[in-house]
Amino acid sequence: MKENIYITRKLPSSIIEKLEKSFHIDMWEKEEEAIPRELLLEKVKEAKGLLCMLTETIDEEVMEAAPNLKVISNMAVGYNNINVNEATKRGILVTNTPGVLTETTADLTFALLMATARRLVEASSYLREGNWQTWSPMQLTGMDIFGATLGIIGFGRIGQAVARRAKGFQMEVLYYNRSRKREAEEEIGATYVDFKTVLTKSDFICLLLPYSPEVHHLISKNELSFMKKTAVLINTARGGIVDEEALYHALKNKEIWAAGLDVFEKEPVDLSHPLLTLSNVVTLPHIGSASIATRMKMAQLAADNLHNALSNRGTVMKVND
Ligand code: DGY
Repeated sequence: MKENIYITRKLPSSIIEKLEKSFHIDMWEKEEEAIPRELLLEKVKEAKGLLCMLTETIDEEVMEAAPNLKVISNMAVGYNNINVNEATKRGILVTNTPGVLTETTADLTFALLMATARRLVEASSYLREGNWQTWSPMQLTGMDIFGATLGIIGFGRIGQAVARRAKGFQMEVLYYNRSRKREAEEEIGATYVDFKTVLTKSDFICLLLPYSPEVHHLISKNELSFMKKTAVLINTARGGIVDEEALYHALKNKEIWAAGLDVFEKEPVDLSHPLLTLSNVVTLPHIGSASIATRMKMAQLAADNLHNALSNRGTVMKVND
């Protein structure tokens, strides 16, 4: 008898067909809507493997409801939606999708940096709303990117890929990371500095570190106060890294110049969120890895991880052991 796999979001048929050869697949059939929690708890009962998205909180309750569960495959590189310690305790393997989304996420990070610096979203609305009466000297003026200083917090794959892009703009690249990355630093031409120096010296600060409780609100009132008044903060990592209330006040009071946010503490962000009232904030709905090719690769890698882990062969991107 085939083992059961539950998939929490509709995935392309090419990916399902391959899995179906070896497993019995059940899947939430909606693309644009996350599976309701109650249904997830019901559906995991028989599952030996779970392929989930970052929208599902896979905690002790889910694992308790899934006595047969052996593998949780997350279709994301970040896995803060999964209680990995609990999974490890229960002998459940957790996998993720590193590597395949690096360049796509770096592209989006740089695009958001540029859009925020040059006020692209605001300028587009300005035109469409009929406000463009004439060219004027200081109309919609922004910040220069070429030759500016970029501070990267989190110098992993994506951080390094953003740094490479920045070098094309002759930016000075500073980075802070828990451990120094000498090889990458030399190859790219980036400079390792302490956390406070990244905050004080950078014109642009990109957050590219994984989220964990230790970095919750890493960027709060104090850290924002160290930044230049002209600084632009870009977050394409996880919303919880930034204290949104402190950010709102810093932006409103012009303590920093602008922010570009692809991620929020609560997603989807409430339309009444104060940050959405500010013209110096560019907001995106968590689309860092959203190119067609990359999302297909992520889905494929998540499926392969599950397939290989359950059948004990091939490569598996493990988060725990
Ligand atoms: C991830 O993979 O963690 C991103 O946030 C979504 O691609």
